[in-house]
Amino acid sequence: MTVKRLTAHNFRNLKEIELEADSGVNIIYGQNAQGKTNLLECIWLFTGAKSFRGAKDTELVSFGCESAHIAMDFTAHGREQTARIIFTPRRQAELNGIKLALPSKLAGEFYAVIFSPDHLSLIKDGPSERRRFLDLAIGQLWPGYIEVLRQYNRAVSQRNLLLKKARERAADCNTLEAFEREIARSGAVIMNYRSRYIEILNSTAPEIYHNISGKKERLSIEYVRKEGLFTESDLAEALESRRQQDILSGTTSVGPHRDDLEFEISGTKAGKYGSQGQQRSVVLALKLAEAQIIKQITGEQPVALLDDVMSELDTVRQDYILNHIKGWQVLITCCDPSPITKLINGKVFYMQGGRLCEG
Ligand SMILES: Nc1ncnc2c1ncn2[C@@H]1O[C@H](COP(=O)(O)OP(=O)(O)OP(=O)(O)O)[C@@H](O)[C@H]1O
Ligand SMILES: [Mg+2]
Repeated sequence: MTVKRLTAHNFRNLKEIELEADSGVNIIYGQNAQGKTNLLECIWLFTGAKSFRGAKDTELVSFGCESAHIAMDFTAHGREQTARIIFTPRRQAELNGIKLALPSKLAGEFYAVIFSPDHLSLIKDGPSERRRFLDLAIGQLWPGYIEVLRQYNRAVSQRNLLLKKARERAADCNTLEAFEREIARSGAVIMNYRSRYIEILNSTAPEIYHNISGKKERLSIEYVRKEGLFTESDLAEALESRRQQDILSGTTSVGPHRDDLEFEISGTKAGKYGSQGQQRSVVLALKLAEAQIIKQITGEQPVALLDDVMSELDTVRQDYILNHIKGWQVLITCCDPSPITKLINGKVFYMQGGRLCEG
């Protein structure tokens, strides 16, 4: 999968830009607030997903303008394709001249993975960020997962409502049991998908991390869940046995909505003890592993979008990113132009005030 040419018109501060990308490494450098992240966001939107910054479509149109228009020529599934997205600000997309019923139908046509400094929350913050990472990655590969997750979350919210009512002796026990059966059924499917994904992640991310660290450090990833919770009946039993306790707290204390991931670097916990560079390297390894897994399963190599990944990394780690990610396209943004001198092959662009120039 390769981005060939991208154009943007009135997209955020990118009034009129054109990018002819290299099929290997592309560096976009420039001072703060010039439009580098906006450019990666623009490419990301061709995956059919929402903005990775959580932005609404109205926020993507340049201030004072009615609409934005972005277009991209890329190769995927062995042929040249063109996609266009118009924000009026309502989003509409077309692929190879054919209007799509929904912009999300671009999913599966163009694949990318994105590293953003915000993703450091994956290591630094609480477990919900790690579950979100898993859910997005799994949902991208197996869309059926998203529906099961929706059913599960709905059943947990309804059980929680009933638990609160039960405190006031106003709940119907049969309904509570029905929700528990649904939690156990969908929860077991979620746990299965997650263990399968973490198993594949463990066969890819540690090797990538080892290489990023200059072959010095080892990463391990563990799926953390309530002990002994593996099957539908395990979950059903645990829900039943904790019912009284859950009525007191008004929340469901077991199930995959309490799952977590634990990262260790050479035997110590990455979240508690990892340095800034190590934590950044773990997130980068996870994102590159996510790309490799997409390649393994779909046969398509996603484009890697790496926003501000270089800062806090030493020269060994920067060199890995610039010169050792082989066989796929990478777009990297940075403020400090010094890594450019280490780039062996690829293209360099300078972004200033929403304008892009090569060199
Ligand atoms: N809808 C919009 N219309 C016009 N300008 C916008 C819009 N949305 C964001 N901007 C502006 O785009 C500018 C560039 O943002 P961007 O996040 O791409 O900067 P950057 O080059 O990545 O900077 P940094 O190095 O600090 O991350 C910001 O100053 C912001 O105000
Ligand atoms: Mg930025």
